[in-house]
Amino acid sequence: MLRIQSLLLMVLSVSLLVLTGCMEKHPAGSKEAGEVLFAACVPCHAADGSGKAHLGAPRIAGLQDWYVKEQLHKFRDGRRGAHPDDAPGLRMRPMARALSGPQDVDAVAAYVATLPKAKPAATLTGGDPAKGAAAYTVCVACHGAAGEGNELLGSPSLTGANDWYLKTQLHNFRSRIRGAADGDIRGAQMAPMAMTLADDQAILDVLAHIQSLGN
Ligand code: HEC
Ligand code: HEC
Repeated sequence: MLRIQSLLLMVLSVSLLVLTGCMEKHPAGSKEAGEVLFAACVPCHAADGSGKAHLGAPRIAGLQDWYVKEQLHKFRDGRRGAHPDDAPGLRMRPMARALSGPQDVDAVAAYVATLPKAKPAATLTGGDPAKGAAAYTVCVACHGAAGEGNELLGSPSLTGANDWYLKTQLHNFRSRIRGAADGDIRGAQMAPMAMTLADDQAILDVLAHIQSLGN
């Protein structure tokens, strides 16, 4: 009897050890837990976070974790990706909603931020980087002269992003597909800035300048 009891005790303590071991390996909210969650993102954003253009899913590797978190929360609560004309946003929204809660959002954002940043090749043509540099002076206050972004202002880095994706977003901000939802304070700060780009050519120009910035 005693032997069975001590055997049971042993089994119990071993399984507790294994369990705490697992928890220590993947504490909730950690980037290790995020790596596991990231498997759900791979079909669209690729294992290295470089994105898949044919799905409209951009490179997310190298995005700051605070920005990834903010966007995932917006997709979850409908401040982003809920507009009927936002086909790519509507594809992303259910993916963000599949995360179980803020802890999973923190974890996956922490993991995304560890993926190496690299400048994707340009896909757009016809932009004049010199004219774009002039237009970009408006953007410097928030996104920085080198396009590095500014956490205090909630403005993400723009270098390392796909030019085709930035083009879509500038059009979205201009046409109130993004940045016009109730409670999207940061988006509402960005939308009028996109209006300073007079037309499609001005968008191509500013994106040619951003492409010329470092990584
Ligand atoms: C079914 C395909 C799909 C899956 C799966 C998916 N995404 Fe997305 N994701 C997209 C698309 C499409 C966009 C572009 C939305 C847009 O154009 O506004 C996007 C945009 C994003 C953005 C915004 C990037 C930016 O610069 O603002 C983030 C962050 C993001 N996804 C993270 C994730 C994470 C993390 C996961 C896994 C939990 C995930 N995505 C799973 C398709 C997907
Ligand atoms: C007043 C500050 C401010 C200025 C000036 C500004 N932006 Fe932004 N920008 C933001 C913020 C904040 C966001 C994030 C919006 C959100 O959370 O959805 C953003 C987002 C963006 C995005 C989307 C990035 C992504 O990964 O989805 C692009 C593209 C962009 N800005 C380009 C520009 C360009 C080009 C200019 C200059 C013409 C500019 N911004 C000027 C604050 C600013």
